[in-house]
Amino acid sequence: MLILGIESSCDETAAAVVKDGREVLSNVINTQIELHKKFGGVVPEVASRRHIETIDAVIDEALHEANATFNDIDAIAVTYGPGLVGALLVGVSTAKALAFALGKPLIAVHHIKGHIMANFVAHEKLEPPFVCLVASGGHSHIVNVEDYTRFEIMGRTRDDAAGEAFDKIARVLGLGYPGGPLIDKLAKEGNPNAVKFPRVRMDKDSLDFSFSGVKTAVINYLHKLEQNGEEYDKADIAASFQDAVTDVLCEHTIEAAKEKRSRVIALAGGVASNSALRAKMTDMAAKDGIDVIYPPPVLCTDNAVMIACAGYYEYLENNFADMTLNAVASLSL
Ligand code: KG4
Ligand code: ZN
Repeated sequence: MLILGIESSCDETAAAVVKDGREVLSNVINTQIELHKKFGGVVPEVASRRHIETIDAVIDEALHEANATFNDIDAIAVTYGPGLVGALLVGVSTAKALAFALGKPLIAVHHIKGHIMANFVAHEKLEPPFVCLVASGGHSHIVNVEDYTRFEIMGRTRDDAAGEAFDKIARVLGLGYPGGPLIDKLAKEGNPNAVKFPRVRMDKDSLDFSFSGVKTAVINYLHKLEQNGEEYDKADIAASFQDAVTDVLCEHTIEAAKEKRSRVIALAGGVASNSALRAKMTDMAAKDGIDVIYPPPVLCTDNAVMIACAGYYEYLENNFADMTLNAVASLSL
């Protein structure tokens, strides 16, 4: 079965063709990073306009790379939320038009479920259940993946997403956008123990996250040094900040895995490409005999392979959308 996946929830216009849920025939991503760089973050209106300009060509290229035509496609899967509503609408409208014109089934995919599903593409033998940490620019969730279409949220951020905190601190340090990969790189040259930033736990029994405290702590720390005219090493700050965030992500996720007796922890979302997070989670989880897996970076950040994969499993459950499908900015799992 061939599924055409379409993703346009933020600043990547993406299309992919995936065979039987797990075999990638094409993966085309048109990133708008250069366009939004000068604003220091994604400008929703600018993102929507660029999606409109590029989506047809991106879909054509995905079919071409897969050596397929529209006739070969069995269903069209599209991200309908959560995300920027104007951006989502471009993908949703395109998918609806294609499904209608071609007489093919339409499948609505939840963006966060898509991020999790990237692990099934990257790890051929992976089967549910397992615990997954989804950490991206918009979300930070600990999810119990019960099966291919059922998910239980065990913990979530109460304020900022982990990626949002990375982006903000990178901006304060004058590194650029998007901040996650830049902090990741700079932190390799710094001392993670240089400054002890707070590791926040909301309540004793909760696996929820809060990253606004660590973000403010870093900003206040830098302001104080600047006011006193003191020099600081950006690499040390990047490494210490990253250490605080990854400590919390690892501790809560491992607790969740132990609670569910999960032998596997999967990472997903843009922050899952963070090298310190991958290494720390792998080391810490090994002490409890838990394996840590993650997709390659290209399947961690936004892409349409993950949407096609999620669409395949929804297809098997007969979960189809109709022409009333709309984009939804906030959508629970
Ligand atoms: O999954 P994604 O592409 O988009 C959302 O759904 O939000 O994630 C983008 C986020 C950005 O905040 C970016 O800074 C972060 O993922 N990110 C990273 C790394 N690569 C991307 N954060 C930390 N370390 C990285 N290596
Ligand atoms: Zn995403």
